[in-house]
Amino acid sequence: LARGVAEPDLAGRHVVVSAGGTREPLDPVRFLGNRSSGKQGYALARTAAARGARVTLVAANTGLPDPAGVDVVPVGTAVQLREAVLKAAADADAVVMAAAVADFRPAAYAAGKIKKKDGQDPEPVVLVRNPDILAEISADRARAGQLVVGFAAETDDVLANGRAKLARKGCDLLVVNEVGERKTFGSEENEAVVLGADGTETPVPHGPKEALADIVWDLVAARLG
Ligand code: CTP
Ligand code: CA
Repeated sequence: LARGVAEPDLAGRHVVVSAGGTREPLDPVRFLGNRSSGKQGYALARTAAARGARVTLVAANTGLPDPAGVDVVPVGTAVQLREAVLKAAADADAVVMAAAVADFRPAAYAAGKIKKKDGQDPEPVVLVRNPDILAEISADRARAGQLVVGFAAETDDVLANGRAKLARKGCDLLVVNEVGERKTFGSEENEAVVLGADGTETPVPHGPKEALADIVWDLVAARLG
């Protein structure tokens, strides 16, 4: 095939991709967030569309332009991302959770801006757990045979942590990235290994996020049959 011309092997399929990072508000002007750029999720959405899929992209705080031909659902928090993903997943053939979902959110939201008080120490920020969306959609598949893919960023013992996480989440594929201060976040390139619940291990050489995205869709397409 010519470069840039994709085979429409996902034609007739609906895929859901989450991208970006959730923001968990403390008050109207402050939030807890993370450094996810959303670029990997957008690359997944673009490549799936190029391969003929109908794509729903649930985008958390990316600030990126909407990819052509993709249905974009903007969200802010983990709770909103869960709602949007569950809704879109109802008739989806595959769900790919590329978003960085905050594990915790502030227990309380202050309706007005939190102010300093003279001579007083700040109140501690109390956090509560957010729902685990990947584990939930893996356990309660909206359709028989629906493929569920997770992403994991690990700093240590990448493969062992990845295998344990794949089992814990119950998804079909887990893309494991090694991250550090200067690796992956916000960069154009990625290096990863894709672990399968069936025991497979697919190394992804250092390269553009589109290349990793295409490998993920190859693995998904093969499993959708
Ligand atoms: N994820 C999710 N809901 C959460 C947290 C994570 O759906 N509340 C998804 C992410 O989108 C990603 C995968 O789970 O696809 C792995 O995220 P990661 O943060 O690596 O997993 P955690 O179980 O949160 O483990 P850790 O304690 O290492 O952060
Ligand atoms: Ca986490």
